[in-house]
Amino acid sequence: MINYSIIMNTKRLSTKLEKALSDQMNKEIQASQTFLSYGIWADNAGYSGVANFLWRHSQEEREHSIKFMRFILDRGGKPKVEAIPAPLKDPKNISECFDSVFRHEVDNTTSVYKIVDLALEEKDWATWNFTQWFVQEQVEEEKLARDLIDQLNLAGGEKASHDALFQLDKSLEDQSNDVPSATEASSEHP
Ligand code: FEO
Repeated sequence: MINYSIIMNTKRLSTKLEKALSDQMNKEIQASQTFLSYGIWADNAGYSGVANFLWRHSQEEREHSIKFMRFILDRGGKPKVEAIPAPLKDPKNISECFDSVFRHEVDNTTSVYKIVDLALEEKDWATWNFTQWFVQEQVEEEKLARDLIDQLNLAGGEKASHDALFQLDKSLEDQSNDVPSATEASSEHP
């Protein structure tokens, strides 16, 4: 019979970091749900290109969540799936939609930075190294969201003509549906 009392503790994460990483795993799923919901709003409002962009983004957020889950497990920890708060309510228009996507990304960056801070404080270099991929990824994601706002502003912002909005929507529709797998990405190539 195995005497479990003598099995050594192989967990290589502090309880605090394990919880912070697990919370982030859940936060990424919440982001995925919000973008899924926004995609439904966009498609229903006639912006199938914007919906296409948001659904791809939703899938990426799910990949991010899995990346956190995998790391916690690889370090001997156990992530916990929590209840997800409801997604943000539908935006009023396309401008509010893009602004909200950008704010969401900035909020997520802040959350990632807190984990980086904690890893630094604890001198947990494995976690610090792991989080660098997300630091870089957030630069890319904030840029994507900012580009949407810029394109809309160039098209006339809230006063954009139907034709300009049609062209913007079409340019997003034409983008590839392929979502690169985050689990296979490196810090140089998020
Ligand atoms: Fe997973 Fe948009 O951050």
